[in-house]
Amino acid sequence: MKNFVYESPTKIIFGKGTELQVGQEIVEKGAKKVLLHYGGGSIKKTGLYDRVVKSLEEAGVSFVELGGVVPNPRLSLVYKGIELCRNESVDLVLAVGGGSVIDSAKAIAVGVPYEGDVWDFFDKGIVPETALPVGCILTISATGSETSASSVITKEEGWLKHAFRYDRIRPTFAILNPELTITLPAYQTASGGTDIMAHLMERYFTNEPNVDLTDRLIEGTLQTVIKYLPIALKDPENYDARAELMWAATIAHNGILDTGRIGDWASHRIEHEIGAIYDVAHGAGLAVVFPAWMKAVYSHDVARFVRFFHRVWGLEPDFWNPEKTVLDGIAVMENYFRSIGMPVTLEELGVPDDRLEEMAEKSNWNGPVGQFVPITTEKALEILKLCR
Ligand code: NZQ
Ligand code: ZN
Repeated sequence: MKNFVYESPTKIIFGKGTELQVGQEIVEKGAKKVLLHYGGGSIKKTGLYDRVVKSLEEAGVSFVELGGVVPNPRLSLVYKGIELCRNESVDLVLAVGGGSVIDSAKAIAVGVPYEGDVWDFFDKGIVPETALPVGCILTISATGSETSASSVITKEEGWLKHAFRYDRIRPTFAILNPELTITLPAYQTASGGTDIMAHLMERYFTNEPNVDLTDRLIEGTLQTVIKYLPIALKDPENYDARAELMWAATIAHNGILDTGRIGDWASHRIEHEIGAIYDVAHGAGLAVVFPAWMKAVYSHDVARFVRFFHRVWGLEPDFWNPEKTVLDGIAVMENYFRSIGMPVTLEELGVPDDRLEEMAEKSNWNGPVGQFVPITTEKALEILKLCR
């Protein structure tokens, strides 16, 4: 196990009706004026917007608002948000929505006090010195952005989708009410659940040998998602299933499962290139890329893959032919994705295969991706071809 420092500053407020506490929470954080940031309008349809505004008004918190965040959030809206926050002397950014809204809020929060171009953080590796605080009310169980230190933004010019990490953009509070996810379209529930699984698998495939505790925590969290995702799809109003998924999304990506180990992340980097050009739902893209990545790299550590498919997916190891266990396991996982309505090929995702070279090259913009097995441009192309 590697040395580590673990700190999670996000206060989590979990459960039914908790969005009504948002105004009071902001007052306790000492903020006076917030940017209310949201997406394409689902929060207005569901009535969440009205409840949030009421809570802000009752607590005496003034606000300006900026909606219009799209999935795979864009840099141009981040610039607008930065300008608005500066003009209005905003002192906290409140994201109400999914990972896209929270990521956009985080980018605005680091951009406001920075004199240069906020994109510098995403493509030059410049580390911010400070940021406005971010708070969030989550409406989809998926990315874990509600407690993560990252933001993923797409720059329209060149369709570059880049991530950046900075510990001080972890939200200061996250309101997690599983009831808010009941209105999600089935495809978004499934895509979000697949993303949670991918975050767990990215961490599972590590070269660090003695990490039994975090292995077991990852395996257990994965089994929870595998069990409750079909239940939530069949019975969207099942609060208990929604609650398990929401807490799993946060646990999967708040850093606790990174402790003492180094995750991989090549599948994410390759999927981001698909999302940048074709604007697909992130989790759906991962349902296509992850099995292909597994096929391309499993020979690096067959024993770890056998353990994974045995402990998580219940396959009996074939000691004479461990490769068969792995390939059978990948097929079981692909069938699971299909059963929840996810694509497992580029064609099923609606993505043509005539720009694979371009995506492979873009994935390596700052060198090979992935820690378990370094994925070069050539290897990324091999993986993308396996997605067909
Ligand atoms: O925009 P609205 O109208 O709100 O609709 C959204 C959107 O169309 C809808 N939706 C969300 N909650 C809803 C709802 N519809 C009805 N009822 C609700 N309760 O769902 C659609 C998808 O929303 P989005 O925020 O895009 O989904 P998700 O949370 O999956 O976020 C995906 C983005 O996060 C990035 C992805 O790359 C992608 O850009 N990621 C961020 C990470 C991070 N910051 O740590 C890590 C991840 O690996 C990921 O890369
Ligand atoms: Zn993800």
